[in-house]
Amino acid sequence: MDKVQDTINLLKMYNQEHVIKLMGKLNESQKRELIEQINKIDFHQLKELYDNTKKEIEIKENKIEPLPYLDKKKLSKEQKEEFDKLGKEVIENGQYAVVTMAGGQGTRLGHSGPKGTFKLDVYGKGKYLFEILAENLKEANQKYGTVIPWYIMTSKQNNDETIEFMEKHNYFGYDKNSVRFFAQSELPLVDTEGKLLIGKDMKIKEASDGNGGTYSSLRASGCLAEMKERGIKWVFIGGVDNALLKMADITLLGMAIKQNVQIASKSIVKANPHERVGVFGKMNGHPKVIEYSEMPEKMAEELDENGELKYGEAHIMCNLYTIEAIEKISKEPLIYHSAFKKNSYIDENGKEIIPSEPNAFKFESFIFDAFEFFDDIAILRGKREEDFAPVKNRTEEDSPRTAKELYEKFWNR
Ligand code: UD1
Repeated sequence: MDKVQDTINLLKMYNQEHVIKLMGKLNESQKRELIEQINKIDFHQLKELYDNTKKEIEIKENKIEPLPYLDKKKLSKEQKEEFDKLGKEVIENGQYAVVTMAGGQGTRLGHSGPKGTFKLDVYGKGKYLFEILAENLKEANQKYGTVIPWYIMTSKQNNDETIEFMEKHNYFGYDKNSVRFFAQSELPLVDTEGKLLIGKDMKIKEASDGNGGTYSSLRASGCLAEMKERGIKWVFIGGVDNALLKMADITLLGMAIKQNVQIASKSIVKANPHERVGVFGKMNGHPKVIEYSEMPEKMAEELDENGELKYGEAHIMCNLYTIEAIEKISKEPLIYHSAFKKNSYIDENGKEIIPSEPNAFKFESFIFDAFEFFDDIAILRGKREEDFAPVKNRTEEDSPRTAKELYEKFWNR
């Protein structure tokens, strides 16, 4: 009884009276589940996040400068050999682990299942995105005589389906014992007045809290501790939706070791000012990625003295960390960004409303915001044709069609 009253008080305190009304309409077990869910919500944090949506994001151009990088194609033979040797040693010694972030919803692609279960129509038979990733890792295992532990981050929503899928496909020939799944955390959605949205299941609507949640979820799930036990020294974190992602690039790894940095990343040249990719820069002396959704247009179009994009080094979600860096980041809170999106909900009369316009804020942290915790980052410029075939949209740019073309062209070489 007390718990019910406490929950009601909490909801009142945070202006969520509509949820109290809803509670009155539920049966006992539904009510219990809802109360349990409500008591896990950090209302103070949520209020802060909502309040922040009313503030303007400020990206002060004058504080941003370009970041130095090395171009993989322009390395001298000696330099490349030195990097490769250093990188190879780490992988051969079993000190390298890979994390795939597969907790996203893939809304833009319009695929109903987890994104990794999307089949790319390549070579007639087609390949699933998870299959393409498994093949990339298997190739590395064969080259370096090891089995790289593969951690797959799912979301609460797609975790079971992802595991079932991998089981059904026998992990695409990957050593099952070297694959571990962990689910990322979620945050509630709120409307323009900061009110919680109720879903069809009569629970508070929640969604994955962005790929920045990877670090804390690695810790909370025990994966980080497991990595340390395994003697892992370097951790690669990549996305699920790039058919040309190279997850064990010894040149990038060796460069990071040689430059004695804690984090490293592969970039490519941004195709045009409006390509939907984040770009690297240095802000107040720290590495930073400015996300496409937050980049002022003028800044995106700005050219340097050579007529090239001033902010043209694109972040392709190909990031590398020392285990100490992951440890450090996993304990620090990242900032949250808000996205205003369409989300269906149940109104006070229990009717489902499917909005035609954006109506709710989703809060997400971004993986690269952690770069700011460090003084330096090693950036290796790769090549679009070799490193980046994103599967993001249903049609046109970065679609299955463009990814197929890039993938087949690369493998036909
Ligand atoms: C992302 C990058 C962008 C980069 C581009 C390259 C972020 C915030 N932005 O943009 O800088 O240039 O890729 O393709 O990373 N994911 C989760 N959980 C979540 C959200 C996302 O695991 O809660 C995963 C997705 O499954 C995917 C990856 O993160 O593997 C990218 O997510 P997405 O939201 O599609 O990022 P983009 O907008 O494409």
